[in-house]
Amino acid sequence: MTSSNNEEFIGQLADKYGRNRESLLPILQKVVEQYYFLSEESMVNIAKELNISTADVYGTASFYSFLGTTHQGKHVIRVCQTIICDMKRKEDIIDAIYDMLGIRPGETTSDGRFSLYYTNCLGACHKGPAMLINDEPYMELTPEKVKDIIVNYMKNS
Ligand code: FES
Repeated sequence: MTSSNNEEFIGQLADKYGRNRESLLPILQKVVEQYYFLSEESMVNIAKELNISTADVYGTASFYSFLGTTHQGKHVIRVCQTIICDMKRKEDIIDAIYDMLGIRPGETTSDGRFSLYYTNCLGACHKGPAMLINDEPYMELTPEKVKDIIVNYMKNS
């Protein structure tokens, strides 16, 4: 993908989601979905479109752990590690994912289909433990529920 394509793609996202701070998160999600990681070039282009500093983009991206310096798996699982989800046994969710996929946070399956990360509060604390797969939120998780969700992703892609 050439740099003008990257610029054009991010411009289209800004047209769609707007050019204010609230647009940053959906734009980051779409960029990572498209490229499987967030390059420096993408961060610079997002900053330009939203008229904010690259440091702002970097700060938000790292807070939500969207910063992969390498290509991520096709499906990126982010389990909330913040206090409420932590108290609601997010570790059981991590263990259930490990049982299914054999990966720990920060790892990608050898077939490149799944990556697992911790992330910070997803704003669904009252329904924790919570996780995102790509940009799909899943809440009130139990190990059983997580296994069903992952089996679905395994079947459908
Ligand atoms: Fe996990 Fe808020 S603490 S969603």
